[in-house]
Amino acid sequence: MCQAVLLRLQKVGNSSNGGVFARGTVEDNSGKIQFIAFERDIVNRLRDLDAAKAFVISGPVDIVKYSSSLALQVVIQKLDNIMPEDDISNLVPVGEFDAEVYKNKMETMIGSVKTLTLRTLLKKIFSGKFYDEFCKNPAGMKLHHAYLGGLLQHSVDVAELASAMADTIGRVDKDLIVTGALLHDIGKVREISSGMGFPYTTEGRLLGHITMSVLMVREAAVELKLPLTSLQQLEHIILSHHGDQEKGSPMACATKEAFIVHYADEMNAIMNQFDVKDNKSPWEFNTMMKRYLLLK
Ligand SMILES: [Fe+2]
Ligand SMILES: [Fe+2]
Repeated sequence: MCQAVLLRLQKVGNSSNGGVFARGTVEDNSGKIQFIAFERDIVNRLRDLDAAKAFVISGPVDIVKYSSSLALQVVIQKLDNIMPEDDISNLVPVGEFDAEVYKNKMETMIGSVKTLTLRTLLKKIFSGKFYDEFCKNPAGMKLHHAYLGGLLQHSVDVAELASAMADTIGRVDKDLIVTGALLHDIGKVREISSGMGFPYTTEGRLLGHITMSVLMVREAAVELKLPLTSLQQLEHIILSHHGDQEKGSPMACATKEAFIVHYADEMNAIMNQFDVKDNKSPWEFNTMMKRYLLLK
């Protein structure tokens, strides 16, 4: 049977019998499986693959030899490029959530910001073509919310969590928190492509989403003449939302508001790890958390 898949190459090598092999994973919306290929033509075509690429493959499914568990792999015997007439709708992961509900939540969130300058900033940024792209983009290539609309879902959920924390903790600038939460990852629209495999853009690899989010906010804020003190507080939330410099943040959290957005962001990314749909066993090794998680 022929199947359109997204193929990620892990290794090309020589086997002991003088042949060659290529191995890696193939995936679609239903899950992921290892592959191996021994045909020299196929191996040569895969040899220089440096990013995930879609192909139509066919071949039998076999048990992985020399593996301690009963893992399956597809032995690719035929590999074709995707043609315009091929159905590839199974290749772009979609989230199991209602995007319209989240768009409404987003509107409510923005409307809840009482500080006029911050509310105007949010309305200006989340509009037009950019907002359409924001609603479509994943929040990650594979670590968390790696599906269409993931960025919208993540940003709204982080804002809701942060808002609840602000209410409980008290004596914090809730408008700043909600604004920072909604804006903290907007640079991902330019960092990660919403196309097949969600590849990083060149700009994304060179600047990263934190820097790009700050630049985008600053550009919009300057046009709106947002007060400098307010802008600095907002930019600090974005710059420190990974918490510490070791986790990729240019700045470590230094304000209550920044800590709240950081922990809401981290908590939401962690909880999303439990939403995998292709878990075959209760315990699954999680690459983001670098540990086994018990998925019920
Ligand atoms: Fe981020
Ligand atoms: Fe985030």
